[in-house]
Amino acid sequence: MISCKKRAKYTFLLPFLFIFFVFSSAFAQAPEEAGAVGKAGVTPAPAAAGAGAGGGADAGVIDNGMTLFKNNCVQCHSVGEDVVVGPGLRDVHKRRSEAWLLKWIKNSSALIQSGDKDAVAVFNKFAKQQMPSFAFSDEELGSIIAYIKSESAAPATAAAPSAGPDTAPGEKVGENAIGNVGGTVDLLLVVLVVVLIVLVVTLLIIASVLKNYLKGKGDLTGAEQEMLERRTNFANIYKSKAVRIIVGLIFVVVLVDISIDKVMGIGIHQGYAPRQPIAFSHKLHAGDHQINCNYCHTSVYKSASANIPSANICMNCHSQIKKESPEIQKIYRAIENNKPIEWVRVHNLPDLAYFNHSQHTKVGGVECQTCHGPIETMEVVAQYSPLTMGWCIDCHRNTPLNTEGNAYYDNLVKLHEKQSKGAFIVASNGGTECSKCHY
Ligand code: HEC
Ligand code: HEC
Ligand code: HEC
Ligand code: HEC
Ligand code: HEC
Ligand code: HEC
Repeated sequence: MISCKKRAKYTFLLPFLFIFFVFSSAFAQAPEEAGAVGKAGVTPAPAAAGAGAGGGADAGVIDNGMTLFKNNCVQCHSVGEDVVVGPGLRDVHKRRSEAWLLKWIKNSSALIQSGDKDAVAVFNKFAKQQMPSFAFSDEELGSIIAYIKSESAAPATAAAPSAGPDTAPGEKVGENAIGNVGGTVDLLLVVLVVVLIVLVVTLLIIASVLKNYLKGKGDLTGAEQEMLERRTNFANIYKSKAVRIIVGLIFVVVLVDISIDKVMGIGIHQGYAPRQPIAFSHKLHAGDHQINCNYCHTSVYKSASANIPSANICMNCHSQIKKESPEIQKIYRAIENNKPIEWVRVHNLPDLAYFNHSQHTKVGGVECQTCHGPIETMEVVAQYSPLTMGWCIDCHRNTPLNTEGNAYYDNLVKLHEKQSKGAFIVASNGGTECSKCHY
């Protein structure tokens, strides 16, 4: 009797363990995901510059070199072994002298014409493609070389850990796109499921306590004996009303969840990731090969809208790279037929709202990733932000204006400081006035 009471007491802990388990597994995911997105949202930093700084150059110089390299060279060169358009530049300072490198980068064709053996050889090896000339000072070139040295000294960086190129396009991206809309409904669902589980577990416990009680009683009547010996019968469970009601309830809850999602999601296309006519991957181009966003989206710092690159921009590289790939053949066909590639538009504000890229990217200094998410990890572009009016205004209320080094703001800032104590945010400058975003 005592032992069975004790057991009953411990079995009562079970439902609490259950609840704990369900809750923790339901919520453990959210912060993890948010964390991952946050981290990836930063533009990909290079393998720590200065790590093993070859040649004793200091970190500042290497940093400079890195910036120059990223802005001018990275679309054609990697600092590893990989050939992009030109050769991988790992250890190039070992196969060429510094003087040769300076001459080459400043004007490679002059060096080739002078008959320099190495220059002619590498020119021929790369199908006589002309590398552009760069009007850098010796100091700037020195910093680029210092950067290449430091990268060469660093151990080869492992391939990016994210989804390999052979994951089906769209899969990964779609899953990760976070929808806020379903959030509260999901919570409701979790609570309901937990309540149901607790109910079932409590019933089971009561049954087992009763059984134990009967066992302990000793002299049993026939009916009691039968109860004790009865085994669980699955057919009975299926027929039982309670089980049917529970299953029915779960079904209804799921149905309601899905339809609320649909209704509230009208007009909001967060996570929208349409199939594109060519399997173009930002992960491959902007991530792995670190091609600058504005190499392709050339107008994003200059004008209101960001352009989608024409096929000619693709041809800068694909007249040489992966010529036989069926996906690349599609680019050739578009050019032959003189037809633009019909990319499917992902982001689309309604006509009543006005949005200007250069105002945000150039003037405001907002990173692409703040609004578009970690594009450089996406095989297929997905809409990352809700693009609602609330989203625009939220940011305008929370973001300080980028006033540094911008004389245009000097007077405005002074005026603002006279009037109030708060930070000079976008909203202080009229960033929440209707007419700024609506004609
Ligand atoms: C538009 C593409 C392109 C850009 C941009 C470019 N290069 Fe090149 N680079 C090439 C090609 C192609 C070659 C191979 C030689 C040839 O065909 O002229 C090359 C060769 C080189 C070489 C010789 C490598 C060897 O093994 O001898 C060096 C060094 C080099 N580039 C450095 C740079 C640096 C530094 C920058 C940026 C300031 C840069 N390149 C920008 C295309 C480019
Ligand atoms: C090699 C060229 C290239 C580079 C580099 C590139 N993009 Fe793109 N981008 C494209 C093409 C082509 C499309 C249209 C096809 C698609 O949506 O995938 C596109 C589409 C997009 C879209 C969706 C546009 C729409 O339809 O609403 C966004 C946003 C975008 N790019 C942002 C970026 C950002 C941010 C970067 C830098 C991290 C970047 N791109 C780098 C070529 C490029
Ligand atoms: C600055 C150079 C550059 C530009 C510009 C560029 N690409 Fe690429 N592209 C690459 C490199 C490098 C690869 C990887 C090749 C490899 O994996 O060996 C690649 C690979 C691809 C692939 C995969 C091919 C395959 O079968 O594996 C496609 C598709 C592609 N690019 C489409 C485009 C389109 C469309 C554009 C124009 C919007 C474009 N690229 C512009 C450099 C470029
Ligand atoms: C991530 C933050 C962020 C988001 C999201 C954002 N903005 Fe902005 N916006 C800024 C910043 C920062 C500036 C100030 C730029 C500057 O220094 O003038 C700005 C300025 C503006 C201006 C000019 C305001 C003025 O006073 O001249 C307009 C118009 C504007 N945004 C419209 C929009 C619209 C429309 C959306 C939504 C589709 C949006 N913004 C989303 C950060 C944001
Ligand atoms: C403040 C938020 C914000 C920033 C920062 C931002 N974008 Fe956008 N982007 C948008 C919005 C909003 C749209 C939809 C515009 C529309 O439909 O009119 C958009 C659309 C696009 C498009 C589709 C073409 C177009 O103009 O509609 C491309 C491509 C694009 N962005 C690329 C970029 C790149 C590259 C960067 C970084 C250099 C960047 N964006 C920075 C908010 C932003
Ligand atoms: C920072 C930019 C911004 C400001 C400021 C702004 N809006 Fe909007 N508004 C938007 C955007 C973007 C949309 C379209 C997205 C959407 O439908 O949520 C929009 C949509 C709307 C719509 C249509 C809503 C719908 O469901 O179709 C109305 C009405 C509207 N705004 C009124 C206003 C009024 C009134 C003000 C001033 C109090 C204002 N807006 C200020 C950006 C802004």
